[in-house]
Amino acid sequence: MAIFYSKKVLKHFTEPRYYGKMKNPDGRGKVGNPVCGDVLEIYLKIGKKPKKQGDYIKDISFQTLGCCAAIAVSDALCDLAKGKAIENALKIKNNEIVNSLGGLPAIKYHCSLLGVDALWEAIYDYLNKNKKPIPENLKLRHRQLKKENHRNH
Ligand code: FES
Repeated sequence: MAIFYSKKVLKHFTEPRYYGKMKNPDGRGKVGNPVCGDVLEIYLKIGKKPKKQGDYIKDISFQTLGCCAAIAVSDALCDLAKGKAIENALKIKNNEIVNSLGGLPAIKYHCSLLGVDALWEAIYDYLNKNKKPIPENLKLRHRQLKKENHRNH
């Protein structure tokens, strides 16, 4: 079956701006989809906004071993998350990523879920390592992902 991607998906796939491993990231999150085998890793550098506005995503990059959609999703997600306060980055939804890509074929929608999960895991890692308060929904998702990972290895 042929899969057709939007021009934006193909652009992110062929010319990703955020691809690459980051040296000494402040947070990293890795998730995989057990069904298709794709793996996505997000790296974060965290900065501090002046006047107690809190932590924000100063830099972000990804490494993805996966399909065209997973790579495009990773790159688009980095675009959406860069510069955002942590609490706002946690509000990024799959739909937002898919819309920013001009849509994804239905069969590829699940690829967008990987992006949000990897970002959440990277933020969890940063908050946890720095002994900062972790929102309840982030803790819950982290536990679920850990369990899923266990089951699949
Ligand atoms: Fe599974 Fe793309 S085919 S993440």
